[in-house]
Amino acid sequence: MTLDELEMKCKDCTACELCEGRTNVVFGIGKKDADIMLIGEGPGENEDLQGQPFVGRSGQLLDKFLASIDLSRDKNVYIANMVKCRPPKNRDPKPEEQDLCIKWLREQFKIIRPKIVICVGRISAQRLIDKDFRVTKQHGEFIDKNGTLFMGTYHPAAILRNPNNKELAFGDWLKVREKIEELGIEI
Ligand code: URA
Repeated sequence: MTLDELEMKCKDCTACELCEGRTNVVFGIGKKDADIMLIGEGPGENEDLQGQPFVGRSGQLLDKFLASIDLSRDKNVYIANMVKCRPPKNRDPKPEEQDLCIKWLREQFKIIRPKIVICVGRISAQRLIDKDFRVTKQHGEFIDKNGTLFMGTYHPAAILRNPNNKELAFGDWLKVREKIEELGIEI
């Protein structure tokens, strides 16, 4: 199955009640065989309206971090979320919603086959790296999982709330750049 075919299927998903409030399914965006994949939490209001991940203020900051290390959703990364439909009032996606949605992400991984996965924020890091993941303690650490490197970093929304974290987050993105060079990944 291609990524486009998977997206078509995902758009009809009614597995959990988040489908009831959605304007659009936010499947993901970017290079279809990207070596670097970013996983956020779930769509917010702007993302739900536009059908694309990280298009609000958080997304603008994320794009700045990416640009600082020569990455962009237009060229060389793929961006998706743990859940594809907007949780009401921007609450955290519930574990059972994530359980029902993760099959789409697994299929995305299988097709895209990224070498590096960046978990943007606690929700995806706790689900994909370690259930007790603490962003403040473990951000910037790469963990090899069956040949794919996973790293968790600050969510841009957390940085907008507390700008003191910006330098730390920037350091994480510089580590991504170093890892890309170390692995000889062509971007
Ligand atoms: N926050 C996320 O985690 N994902 C988005 O797509 C937008 C905001």
